[in-house]
Amino acid sequence: MSVNIGNINLGEFPLLLAPMEDVSDPPFRALCKKQGADMMYTEFISSEGLIRDAEKSVQKLDIYDFERPIGIQIFGGNMESMIEATRIVEQADPDVIDINYGCPVKKVVCKGAGSGILQDIPKMVRLTEAVVKATKKPVTVKTRLGWDEDTKYIVEVAERLQDIGIQGISIHGRTRKQMYKGEAKWDLIRDTKNNPRLHIPVFGNGDINSPEKALEYKNEYGVDGIMIGRAAIGYPWIFNEIKHYMKTGEHLSAPTIHDRVNAAKMHLRESIKWKGLTLGILEMRRHYTNYFRGLPGIKNYRLKLVTYQTEEQIIGLLDEILDIYG
Ligand SMILES: Cc1cc2nc3c(=O)[nH]c(=O)nc-3n(C[C@H](O)[C@H](O)[C@H](O)COP(=O)(O)O)c2cc1C
Repeated sequence: MSVNIGNINLGEFPLLLAPMEDVSDPPFRALCKKQGADMMYTEFISSEGLIRDAEKSVQKLDIYDFERPIGIQIFGGNMESMIEATRIVEQADPDVIDINYGCPVKKVVCKGAGSGILQDIPKMVRLTEAVVKATKKPVTVKTRLGWDEDTKYIVEVAERLQDIGIQGISIHGRTRKQMYKGEAKWDLIRDTKNNPRLHIPVFGNGDINSPEKALEYKNEYGVDGIMIGRAAIGYPWIFNEIKHYMKTGEHLSAPTIHDRVNAAKMHLRESIKWKGLTLGILEMRRHYTNYFRGLPGIKNYRLKLVTYQTEEQIIGLLDEILDIYG
């Protein structure tokens, strides 16, 4: 059965690219789209930054037609700012507007934004309702199980947010207190999905890093789709690998060195184009480890990849990697 967010048809059991700060940008999203991501989200964008017209926040609104369906994610703890930001985001014409209620970082949480709002569910409901009312776009929410072990209210929260108009929810199977520690627990994600009153799609998120695990969690937890974050960093092939495995029970052959080098090159070039030389080169550095994971002796190249300062040097090094390992 097809999964829908509002009128947007995501096909059967969609795989979503998670919003990731400084990662889920247009260059990276282009690679994930090519490799089978069914729906993608921008990294989170500060509502305060948007209303101040801060260049960094506004640039994150860049979306392209080939990426559709795409959601733009915003965060903030102030109602007026979130309403204003929603109107600004609407003008960028995303398919979906997503609210971040999951970010565990202190500087976000202490403003009552991100997962900070999990300490005040009535405010979360009011804020969500205000965003829903401020736009004609479907609104989705991404959140965690709760603030801590004692406040894992996600089943009730999902229902309340549905009742005030959200059209999909992605749930990371950890509490705020856990940050990224321990294993993501999906039991309450299953309970949320099994709530007979809930009819919006529920996307499970947390620790999916292989086709086997994706299939196992699909069957075990009954979610409508899966959202993937870290496993896609430097490995956008994960989406098609999971799809193929779910369809056939067999593994796609792993990307060749040629595929990896080409992806890294495209990623670098597009990053420089989109962010400028310095930031483009800098922010690519977190991706190389994963692009070339497992290659014997790659350490020496990796060191150079994360220290070289010019595009030519890095492209030259990538060609060398292809020569040596290809
Ligand atoms: C580098 C990084 C940046 C992230 N930025 C965001 C963000 O902007 N918005 C958000 O909702 N979640 C963010 N997350 C959380 C992810 O979307 C996801 O919920 C989390 O990584 C768990 O999924 P995974 O195990 O598949 O990575 C971020 C995670 C990482 C690792």
